[in-house]
Amino acid sequence: MDIKNKTVIVTGASSGIGLATAKLLARRGAKLALASRSKDKLEKLASELPGSLAVPVDMTKSSEIRRMVDRAEGHFGRIDALINNAGQGYDAPIEKIDVRTLHYIFDLDVVGPLVAMQHVIPLMRKQGGGAIVNISSGLALMYLPGMSGYASLKSALVNISLTAREELKKDKITVSVVYPYITSTDFEKNTIKSSPGSEWEQEGGEGEEGGSPYKADSAEFVAQKILEALESGAAEVFAHDWMKNPDRES
Ligand SMILES: NC(=O)c1ccc[n+]([C@@H]2O[C@H](COP(=O)([O-])OP(=O)(O)OC[C@H]3O[C@@H](n4cnc5c(N)ncnc54)[C@H](OP(=O)(O)O)[C@@H]3O)[C@@H](O)[C@H]2O)c1
Repeated sequence: MDIKNKTVIVTGASSGIGLATAKLLARRGAKLALASRSKDKLEKLASELPGSLAVPVDMTKSSEIRRMVDRAEGHFGRIDALINNAGQGYDAPIEKIDVRTLHYIFDLDVVGPLVAMQHVIPLMRKQGGGAIVNISSGLALMYLPGMSGYASLKSALVNISLTAREELKKDKITVSVVYPYITSTDFEKNTIKSSPGSEWEQEGGEGEEGGSPYKADSAEFVAQKILEALESGAAEVFAHDWMKNPDRES
């Protein structure tokens, strides 16, 4: 998809990867619906990115997601792409997983993206096509102690995405998954933790294709991968090539 003049919903646009993606897409001429809970941050961003619209939403609430999509469609007249990026981590060993917390993260990381897809798909079908990009995680490809809850939900998102991709081929709607690696954002700070300390820590530094698996990437680096997924319609885009064959014993 050529992104110029296309209408794109970016969830989680107030921070980190979503913010960097919104800025990148705006530079490429896209019209953006900026979605997250932080109304003030979104309105400030919308004033900086010409032609964009702040659409505050709690992505754990289906009725709000429906309203967010309706508002975006009402304003722009169409939705060409959806980037399901809003999300939060949960760091707890199996024994300590709190089921209520897991349900919350499930609502945010899996059900929210699913509901957003369910609302944009009929619009895209009517328009003759579209693109959906769902942000998973490198953790969906690994078995990292403490991260089973979060990783299993990001794996569920992969399955939903790649199944939707098959279902929607006939409608010319591409569905892609992007797998970020450790990325320098507020993600680690915002991750809900059962206890201090995690192996999935950010160590700073700018990652590059083929770079060290122990260096964090910048949000701008991941935004480029998201743009690549939008433009190519590829099924899966990995932050780094080595992630295609991760060492599942590590
Ligand atoms: N950073 C990493 O190392 C990393 C690695 C792999 C995958 N990822 C994935 O990348 C995505 C973006 O994360 P990030 O690194 O940019 O983290 P971040 O800086 O913490 O940003 C998270 C975004 O999600 C939004 N959000 C959180 N809860 C929400 C809710 N209930 N409703 C609506 N929006 C909500 C936040 O906005 P508000 O607070 O304004 O609602 C914020 O814009 C996530 O899906 C994450 O799982 C991150």
